Amino acid sequence: MLRTLIIFLATVVIYSCSSKEITSVQLNSPDGKITVTLSCFPDSLYYAIEMDGTSIIKKSLLGFEFNNQAPLADSLRIISVTERSANEQWTQVWGETKQVTDNHNQVTIELEEMRASGRKLNLIFKVFNDGTAFRYHIPEQTNIDSIFIINEKTQFHLAQDYSTWFIPAHYDSYELLYQNKLASKVESANTPVTFESNNRKTFLSIHEANLTNYAGMTLKKHPDSDLLFHAELVPWPDGTKVKAKAPMATPWRTIQLGRSAGDLSESTMILNLNEPNKLADVSWIEPMKYIGIWWGMHLGTHTWTVGDRHGATTENVKKYIDFAAENNIQSVLAEGWNTGWEHWGRPRAFDFITPYEDFDLPGLAEYAKAKGVELIGHHETGGDAEYYEEQMDKAFSLYQSLGIRQLKTGYAGGIVPRGQFHHGQFMVSHYRKVVEKAAEYQISINAHEPIKATGIRRTYPNMMTREGARGMEWNAWSAGNPPEHHTILPFTRNLGGPLDYTPGIFDLLYGNAGERVLWNNQDDAVSRVNTTLAKQLALFVVFYSPQQMASDLIKNYENQPAFQFIKDVPVDWEFSKVLNGKIGDYITIVRKDINSNNWYLGAISDEEGRSLRIGLGFLEQDRKYIAEIYQDSPDTHWETNPYLHTITKKSITNNDSLNLILAPGGGQAIRFRADN
Ligand code: NOJ
Ligand code: CA
Repeated sequence: MLRTLIIFLATVVIYSCSSKEITSVQLNSPDGKITVTLSCFPDSLYYAIEMDGTSIIKKSLLGFEFNNQAPLADSLRIISVTERSANEQWTQVWGETKQVTDNHNQVTIELEEMRASGRKLNLIFKVFNDGTAFRYHIPEQTNIDSIFIINEKTQFHLAQDYSTWFIPAHYDSYELLYQNKLASKVESANTPVTFESNNRKTFLSIHEANLTNYAGMTLKKHPDSDLLFHAELVPWPDGTKVKAKAPMATPWRTIQLGRSAGDLSESTMILNLNEPNKLADVSWIEPMKYIGIWWGMHLGTHTWTVGDRHGATTENVKKYIDFAAENNIQSVLAEGWNTGWEHWGRPRAFDFITPYEDFDLPGLAEYAKAKGVELIGHHETGGDAEYYEEQMDKAFSLYQSLGIRQLKTGYAGGIVPRGQFHHGQFMVSHYRKVVEKAAEYQISINAHEPIKATGIRRTYPNMMTREGARGMEWNAWSAGNPPEHHTILPFTRNLGGPLDYTPGIFDLLYGNAGERVLWNNQDDAVSRVNTTLAKQLALFVVFYSPQQMASDLIKNYENQPAFQFIKDVPVDWEFSKVLNGKIGDYITIVRKDINSNNWYLGAISDEEGRSLRIGLGFLEQDRKYIAEIYQDSPDTHWETNPYLHTITKKSITNNDSLNLILAPGGGQAIRFRADN
């Protein structure tokens, strides 16, 4: 029996079985509602988490296995416990919310092996009111130099058979459809993975923060129990998971916690666990909306390669620049501007310097500038990280010389060097190199086929947005994304950070697309966009991205009154709030524009129609607003009648409430324009 002695009481409670030996350390959140406990026994090291007095994560193992030394997981003793607290505010360069509060308690626990080797390991726990996180730190020491991790033993032993929202673990892709199963039926998951208790009073999401020079973490079911998952790191080709040298720190293992699904979406813990902005000058980083030469290639009406149907011609791009200039869209993307697309899929395919003969890069940069619009650069690497690294300096320098400040990157293909995965340590470091190198040339990044978002945007605010989800493109050449997909992402994928989903398709059935050449195993019979038009508008608010694309062909926006919402909606916010939400069913988010007193609302539904009553108490008191409402009509249905919508205006104040009527697969977008 363990005899417990409480050494001192503060936010940290330390238990020991004699006055000398500390065996357990407990840390509470600032509001006292979340508790994490670390227990150190001779044969094992465990942590556990409680919220509101209820167990969330049961005793779960910690530690490492290496391929060049003995495991570091047992025969450890605590040699010191250091406590720290913070309650500070910091300001985002851009984001969903300008001011972020970092209020947490922290404890650093120094451990030492009781064996002759006497290796040292530190564990750092932080507890916020919106969750808890921990990381390992292997300090510099004479008996550890090179570190080859073959297994991070971290476990997550769920206290309940939670309802789980997940995509299966995949080392190369996050572009999968989310599934909902009981945790006991889940074999593996990419993170973020979100869990909901049976009484819907507890919500948690497991992810990681500050994924730096380490392998991405997936979760794998442990053979010992149906509710036990362990960290499964994405390997190097030789099977090693992480290659490092002491001192080293792992990413934070994060458990975001809430009493509603919306609490998870509002959590700022992931950002708070990242280091402050490292870029001295951020004046060149600017959130923007964009349009571009893009959807046509996915539909098969245009090609990336030069030829009769080439999309990125000087003439086409000029039309997009003109349209952007007239419609409050700040930037234009042109994919397929550079030579190499004919070799896509092979190593060393893409050249990031040489434009196709019908694309006048300097001329277009000049033309855009004269119109007050920016060109967005594009580098599809096909996955060839090695060749990209060779070209990066030259390619970024070319863009900088032309005043191009934003760049979309892509990794659509198997990674080169062969054998590497998109989510392993090699690529984690590659993606970071790109962000750092881009910063040297004052370029902001939108990465497709990226590593998942873990809050790096705080440290490098030029890492603006990314894909890393099954985005709009899937609607062009597959059975597409079902209506419920959009109601899951805000509570799962988007907990990591901004998403470049590329919303805003108006021609949902592609009636106005022109002749298509089917590709990518496309089945024309099922391909379409599975939402109503009003829902496309709502996605501009629901999915946060500081680079937000209006993704349809410009001809589909012409003479469309609903396009006014896309013209109006901003991409940088002072404040965001989730008004309601049920994972996989619906969500309503409101956001306040950073540059005006206007608010915007997006509400979306899955395949069910619904009516959501909302109070407008979030609006400013004593201010009048005109609500410009874009909504589904009574007969609208995503499947049979997706285009039908109404646009109405209404005078309101913060004492009012609204009944949001959403069609099956529908949505609603509102601009609350301040009127005094
Ligand atoms: C996949 C990206 O997600 C998509 O946006 C892009 O058009 C293609 N790769 C080609 O780069
Ligand atoms: Ca993609």
